[in-house]
Parts: sequence; structure tokens; C-alpha cells
Amino acid sequence: MGTRRICVGALEDLPLRRGRLVRDGMDEIAVWQADGRVYAISAVCAHQHTATLHEGTRHGTMVTCPLHGWIYSLETGCAVAGSGVLKTYPVKVERGVVYVEIDDEE
Ligand code: FES
Repeated sequence: MGTRRICVGALEDLPLRRGRLVRDGMDEIAVWQADGRVYAISAVCAHQHTATLHEGTRHGTMVTCPLHGWIYSLETGCAVAGSGVLKTYPVKVERGVVYVEIDDEE
């Protein structure tokens, strides 16, 4: 088991009001900048299992799914409106470049 890094791009190019969708194999990950930090969370809403959370709206560290309004914490992946917990991923910023770290599972 190891950790891989997915390059998201330059921090300065990350939009502030929208997320960015990053794909890694079957994983679809929403990367958001919020309150001076960068977060990565599964983009797949627990409601209808669609990759929509990069297109949601953000208030602080909460992102609202654009389809039916379920709300998730970017910090924990936990739904605060709706139900379920989305996977979150560690993020590193090095020399102005954003990386998402993904654990390879057996
Ligand atoms: S698909 Fe996200 S709230 Fe329905």
C-alpha cells in the first residue's frame, strides 16, 4: 500500500467560488479553496451518487450540492443536511502547486 499524488494545478489558478473536479481512475474528487486552505472531498453526492459537488456553492467550509441541497463539511466530509459521509483526501501545497494525496488500496 502506498500514497500517490495527483497534481491539481497552481494554487493561484484555483477558483474561489467554484470547486475543481479532479479524476483519478474511478475516483472523482472536488477540490475547493476555503478560508485560506485547500480541501479535497469526493465529488459524488451521497444522495443520487452523481459527481456534482465541485459545482456546488460554498459558504465557509460547507458546500451545498446544486441538485437538491444536501450540505457537506469540507473538513470532515460529513453531511450536515442530508446524510452520509464523503471521503476526504489530504491536500499538500508545495511551491504554489496543489496536490491531492490518494492512498492506494489493496
Ligand atoms: S444529488 Fe446531491 S442533493 Fe441530490
